[in-house]
Amino acid sequence: MKVALMGHGVVGSGVAEILLEKKESLAEKAGSLLELVKILDLRDFPQLSYQELFTKDFSEIESDDSISIVVEAMGGLHPAYEYVKSCLEKGKSVVTSNKELVAEKGAELLAVAKEKNVNFFFEASVGGGIPVIRPMHLCLAANELKTVYGILNGTTNFILTKMIREQMSFEKALSIAQELGYAEKDPTADVEGIDACRKICILASIACKKHIYPKDVYAEGITKITAEDVAYASAAGYVVKLIGQAKLGKEQHQVMVTPALVPVDHQLSGVDDVFNAVLIEGDCTGDVMFYGKGAGKMPTASAVVADVVHAAKMPGTSLSLTWEDSTASVALPLTSCENSFYYRLQGSVKPETVEQLWGEVVWLTRKDQPANEVAFMTACMKEGEAVKAEKQLQDAVILSKIRYLD
Ligand code: NDP
Ligand code: HSE
Repeated sequence: MKVALMGHGVVGSGVAEILLEKKESLAEKAGSLLELVKILDLRDFPQLSYQELFTKDFSEIESDDSISIVVEAMGGLHPAYEYVKSCLEKGKSVVTSNKELVAEKGAELLAVAKEKNVNFFFEASVGGGIPVIRPMHLCLAANELKTVYGILNGTTNFILTKMIREQMSFEKALSIAQELGYAEKDPTADVEGIDACRKICILASIACKKHIYPKDVYAEGITKITAEDVAYASAAGYVVKLIGQAKLGKEQHQVMVTPALVPVDHQLSGVDDVFNAVLIEGDCTGDVMFYGKGAGKMPTASAVVADVVHAAKMPGTSLSLTWEDSTASVALPLTSCENSFYYRLQGSVKPETVEQLWGEVVWLTRKDQPANEVAFMTACMKEGEAVKAEKQLQDAVILSKIRYLD
């Protein structure tokens, strides 16, 4: 079976290496030889032993009917969307690691794949090397999925771990994550929660069978977390993590990405560095957890190549991996989402005022806490109610607001 690769960067070069170096074992697993015949990239790679495979002309892949599987690892929406759609329309299966593409165009591309009876696979788009998408739609097929949540971005988890454990600066930790190939081309997508938002949208779309678009989902990154917040959290037995969550309802679903205080005895609290973890609650299984490296060349390439093997072995569309497009938002508006909140306030604020506004709270303390600073955790409430309380607050400013994992 002839395979083409589009994009020879961090992920694509790993895919090429595995396809070329593990030919025999992959042939056994796929039931046919997977022959890498073309690589599309903008750059030249004169030092590579397989440099003759490179082209800069997409039509050499698009119009070659002997190519049956195309891997897209270029990233970005354009021209990835046009190239992938065209390959599917030409009857080629497509495997991608591009979460932006799947989160924005998944429903449409899955429909084209179904019409042409080919596969559109994207295991690597969530959780890097962790098998989570295939287990979700195949191994958990007997379940109604109730919640899906976890640590979905390797770069931010790496940064938080370095900042908290080693007191490294944000900038230094980010630059190491970039050197290691974890970060997106524009790392704003990582640190502002946009990448994790794309991933939770993909997982939630699989779970509820309707496309959930990133534009309808509240996403907040890690850039506002302070050492003071970490100190309060730590003293109360919590760690701070960037969490994507999808709580599935009947018609609408609570989907969001935010930093969250995670209890130290929770399974997610020890997920550090570039590791990701996804917890899925099914009505038959209860909690199932998936854990592994969430970014990086070889872990991600592993997931891509597994999809190539699956596509080679089962050429017709995998019907369990589909969802419908949606016109109205199936994501709950932020004001209706329910969470518990941590607040840090500065000013002359009385405990009874706080409890009048937010209800009963748990007060937190930290070492060297200034006299004019308070921190507390609320009970679970609708975001709208929390915001109403914030607006009524007088004589104090809100320095931090972080949700926590119930
Ligand atoms: P890179 O930027 O390292 O690689 C992308 C490659 O594609 C580059 O060589 C780039 O060339 C090339 N390219 C871009 N546009 C075109 C084009 N129009 N025609 C031909 N070649 C093109 O990105 P990654 O490998 O890190 O990521 C690829 C995708 O995988 C992204 O969607 C990313 O989000 C996703 N991903 C990445 C992971 C990781 O750990 N890095 C993990 C999981 C998913 P040039 O450099 O010249 O622009
Ligand atoms: N930039 C992403 C991350 C790559 O750090 O998780 C993996 O999707």
